[in-house]
Amino acid sequence: MKIIKDKNKLRSLIQNDKNLGFVPTMGAIHNGHMSLIRKSISQCNNTVVSIFINKPQFNKKSDFHKYPRVLKKDISILKKLKIDYLYLPTTKQIYPDGPNKKIKINRFEKKLCGKHRPGHFKSVVDVVDRFIKIINPKRIYFGEKDMQQLKIISDYVNNKYRNLKVVPCKTVRSKNGVAISSRNLLLSKKETIIASRIYNILKNAKYKLINKKININYIEKQINKFNIKKIEYIKVLDINKLIKPHYSKNKYRIFISYYLGKTRLIDNI
Ligand code: PAF
Repeated sequence: MKIIKDKNKLRSLIQNDKNLGFVPTMGAIHNGHMSLIRKSISQCNNTVVSIFINKPQFNKKSDFHKYPRVLKKDISILKKLKIDYLYLPTTKQIYPDGPNKKIKINRFEKKLCGKHRPGHFKSVVDVVDRFIKIINPKRIYFGEKDMQQLKIISDYVNNKYRNLKVVPCKTVRSKNGVAISSRNLLLSKKETIIASRIYNILKNAKYKLINKKININYIEKQINKFNIKKIEYIKVLDINKLIKPHYSKNKYRIFISYYLGKTRLIDNI
């Protein structure tokens, strides 16, 4: 595994690779990232993973500062996975003239998480676009856990880059059902049990909800019994209608965002 900080050096190493896989991350590599990386390794000649904590996409300064920074551990995981290149750019390399606040993205950015995190998805698409221009990959990998991110990026990429495929990867869950995320590290034991119960409630209610045998209010009441701090949203949406046609067989998902203490969790089931 080559660790590269300079974009020109990276470009010179990968420019002739016609089947390059790219997994963008903000580090704190977990099983979810690892499944994206394994998929890239299985589908591509070479795999580039980036670690870059993209400040503009954080709505609160404190969230940016709290974001786990565990580079040594990440490097050792990525070495074991045998990726080809780890790209660790500086902010100056990514934003020589600052972020692009005027980037145009799908209207869907205003819903779900976007409603509560103004500008977040614009900043995510901006940074991903910058990485694509540097790396020029054939495939780029995103997890379905962040379904709204995946949909918005897919739409952007499909409109702008003809030869780049966005590869969606299934959500990886712990044994207790909780979707894997770096934020899970911030949960207490009790909160982890509650997150697992909430997952089970949603999973068991899914088909009744879709078939309108029960309604969202009923589910909300059940979840609120755990004394959780706040449900930001809970909605059943047909993912094919969110943006453009999608590949999933399970069209409907329950989308949820809620707070356990100070930790904001999202999922779609
Ligand atoms: O999903 C993430 O970790 C980030 O939003 C991404 C795609 C790496 C952009 O900073």
